[in-house]
Parts: sequence; C-alpha cells; structure tokens
Amino acid sequence: MHHNPLPRLDSASEIRERLLPLCRLRRGDLWIDSLRGHRVGCLDAADSHEVNEIMQRDCAQLAVHDPPYNLVAFKRQSLQEYLRWCRKWIRNSDTALRSDSSLYVWLGADQKNGFQPLPDFIIMMREMPFQPKSLVTVRNQRGYGTQKNWMAIRQELLYYVKGKPTFNVDAEYTDIPKILRGYYKDINGKSTENFERSRSETIRAGNVWVDVQQIFYRMEENVSGCYAQKPIKCLDRIIRASSDDGDLVIDFFAHSGSTLLASEISNRRCYTMDTDPVFAEIAIRRLEHFRETGRLGWQNGHPFEDELDIGNDTTSSGSIETET
Ligand SMILES: C[S@@+](CC[C@H](N)C(=O)[O-])C[C@H]1O[C@@H](n2cnc3c(N)ncnc32)[C@H](O)[C@@H]1O
Repeated sequence: MHHNPLPRLDSASEIRERLLPLCRLRRGDLWIDSLRGHRVGCLDAADSHEVNEIMQRDCAQLAVHDPPYNLVAFKRQSLQEYLRWCRKWIRNSDTALRSDSSLYVWLGADQKNGFQPLPDFIIMMREMPFQPKSLVTVRNQRGYGTQKNWMAIRQELLYYVKGKPTFNVDAEYTDIPKILRGYYKDINGKSTENFERSRSETIRAGNVWVDVQQIFYRMEENVSGCYAQKPIKCLDRIIRASSDDGDLVIDFFAHSGSTLLASEISNRRCYTMDTDPVFAEIAIRRLEHFRETGRLGWQNGHPFEDELDIGNDTTSSGSIETET
C-alpha cells in the first residue's frame, strides 16, 4: 500500500507527461458542472479577460483565494513583481465580487527572507477598495519542528470586506468545550460567571483557529500530488460565516479543489480556476469522486488511480467550453 503515491505534481515532469493527456481542460478551457452549476477553468487569475470568461456577468458574495506565497516551496519572483501580480488578481476579484461581499486571502511569511510577502501584501491592500476586518491565524502543526527556533505552525488568513456583507456568527462556534472559568459580571445585582451568561457550551473560533488538523496522508481528505491543500474544515467555516445558502463563491487558485468541494457540501456554487491543467482536472475529479463515494479525498490512493493502474477512461458530469 502506498501512503502518498504521487509526488508534488507541479514539478514531477515525467509523471506530468503521463497525466496531461488525462486532463479534460487545456489552457483557456472552462468546465461547467451540469448538476449544480459550478465552474472550473484552466485560466489565469491575473488576466481580466480570462476571469471575465468564467464569471460571464455573475458576481460572487465571497472570494477565498490561496495564491502561491512567493516562498521556497513555490516559484519565486522579486517581491515587486509578486506584488504587481497580486494587484492584478485582487482587481479582478473586485470586479467579480458584489458590492456587499467578503474576500479571504491565505498568505505566508518567509522568516528567512524579511517575512515577505505577508506585510508587503497587507500594505498593498490599503490601495484596494476592500476594508480589513481580521487577520486569522490557523494552527497548522506538522512534523516535530526544529531545535533551534520556535516551530513554524502558523498559517495566516486575511479577511477583508466591501460594503456590508453577511457574517453568520453561528459558523464561528467550534466543537471545543469551554474549560476556563472567569469573566465575572454583575447582572441584576448578582455576580455571574461567563458560563452562565453564554448561549453555547463550546468556544468561538475567534481569530486564532486551534481546532483544525493539518492535512496529512492518513486523512480521508488527502489528495496525493497536491502540496498546498487547505483543510475542508477551514473552508467550511469561512463559507458558512461569509455566505448564505445558494450564494456564489469564487476561488482563483483551485489546486486540489478544496473551496469547490466545501461549496458543494454547503450548498453554494463555486467558480474556480487554476493555470495548471493537472490541478484543474484534480479539482473536477475531487468533486466527482465526492459525488460518487461521499469521500473528501483519496486516502492511500490518488485522483488518477484508475488510469495509471488499469487504464480506464474518465467519466464526466459536465461540459467543456474550449477557448476560441
Ligand atoms: C497554494 S495552491 C492553492 C491550494 C488550494 N487552496 C487547495 O486547498 O488545494 C496555489 C495554486 O494556484 C495555481 N496558480 C498559480 N498561479 C496562478 C494563476 N495566475 N492563476 C490561477 N492559478 C494559479 C497553482 O497552479 C496552484 O495549484
């Protein structure tokens, strides 16, 4: 049994050669889901024409973007180039979002290189028509860390808004029981403790999320070959807090399709894209696999296991629009 059968699929050139013919989309193509109306494009987030191609005239209530972070793990460019590129997809998001909407951006800080690009991105965002609302930190523990520094276990998530979008506070409650007592307050002359006043047995996530397991190969939602997968639990929380049933969610950097899948589960529509045909295909397959099996990913398997092992054809529940 293979634990994580596929290598990082952005850089494994030999295996990519075998996978590319199995991908439904080429650069410029769009897949439209006939069942629920999701869209997956093999498109460039920084190109306004390509973003218009997927949006048509629709506008979304929520954007959840997870761009490459300009760190060692991704293709690196100069910080100025990176910020120029970010401006483009942020402007495209502005056009694609309603006047009352939310924008979430996952981002990292390189502690070996001046903590770029997180602070630079935050400063750049001051020019943009979004108001900052919160900086969420997700505890993202993996491995045993280092003896020479604090273990790097943080994942940052920026939250911005335009206008006055939905915020469903119920989505903010975790399943962590309240264990700390305190915060006494006088109510009608009686000193009451925090527990007596609150309406929930569990704590709210706040802007430090400690209840999310980082993806690893033993988890059902693992998608082998994807090197930057975000947990469905985070996306589910974001989507339920910042959109309503039936709303449109956009994610310009699909990769393993986590936002697409979380949107399907919570009855939202999702338009998502990736410049890499392999990841666009994986996002579609993950949705189809969920619909067929109820599973969130491929624990011990992978999205191309049928063809790579036994050479079957793929099946599709949607139609493809090819760039003209
Ligand atoms: C950090 S990953 C996203 C991970 C995703 N949130 C998940 O949970 O699987 C970034 C993805 O963006 C894609 N990408 C890079 N540049 C892009 C661009 N200009 N437009 C669209 N996608 C791009 C990469 O191919 C990669 O799959």
